[in-house]
Amino acid sequence: MIGNPVAHSRSPFIHAAFGQQTGIALEYEKLCAPMDGFAPAVAQFFSAGGIGLNVTVPFKEQAWALAQHGLSDRAKIAGAVNTLWQDNGQLKGCNTDGVGLLTDLRRQDADPINKKVLLVGAGGAAKGVAFPLHEAGCAQLHVINRTSERATALRESVLQHKPTLGDRLTAGDLNSANGQWDIVINATSSSLGDQVPAIAGLSFADGSMAYDMFYAAQPTAFMRYANQQGASKVCDGLGMLVGQAAVSFDIWHGVMPDVAPVLQALRMQLNDRV
Ligand code: ATR
Repeated sequence: MIGNPVAHSRSPFIHAAFGQQTGIALEYEKLCAPMDGFAPAVAQFFSAGGIGLNVTVPFKEQAWALAQHGLSDRAKIAGAVNTLWQDNGQLKGCNTDGVGLLTDLRRQDADPINKKVLLVGAGGAAKGVAFPLHEAGCAQLHVINRTSERATALRESVLQHKPTLGDRLTAGDLNSANGQWDIVINATSSSLGDQVPAIAGLSFADGSMAYDMFYAAQPTAFMRYANQQGASKVCDGLGMLVGQAAVSFDIWHGVMPDVAPVLQALRMQLNDRV
């Protein structure tokens, strides 16, 4: 796991657990790269025989640029890479966040297929999941953001790659969320400050799911808000964290691990720290 800082990362725990579960012997370490030294650190890692890298803040865009000639479709559209590996000496990059989110939604009986999905936020986190959500077959994906221009730009960048999505993908400001939503995903960083985006007229359909991509030991501000607004189910993003790690693991080792027991162990660890 390469980033700066990386001390907080739970990925070594997750990958060690996946390794145990699948019987694959592995070493997964944290690597704090200098702010101006990401590319040399990546080169050194692979020349020393490393198999794969997860990339975190603030290097995801640099990883995307480095793997320019070996990007998956998801990474191309996300504009950010969280998983690097080599294939015949060529650097490859993928963004597994979106699939991690989908895995977690499906695990909780909230498959986006044929659903009306509201995506709140238009920063890096939202960019990583917009296309995979659409690819999963939702009836409508509406992206809203405090700064509406960023939501519009996100829509346009997805449409550039997939023009056929057309009017099933819409964008607007926080006042444009009228109607009933089956799935509402908070991809803003507002929960970090214990705040909630000021969404006007938000209404949840029967059986709906409110998903905060942020996670904490206690229910997040968005989860509490969604409960009050009548969401049928609410959850945080811990499952997405484990889900995106599972997809990276599969890319590197060719085996898809079981997310559920690792998620349970991580949840217990998180609760124990309160
Ligand atoms: P990240 O990579 O985590 O997505 P980012 O690119 O800085 O980080 O984006 C943060 C997102 O959270 C943006 O969508 C931001 O809205 P703006 O584009 O209008 O800044 C959103 N955000 C952060 N705090 C918010 C708040 N209190 N209310 C509403 N939106 C908020």
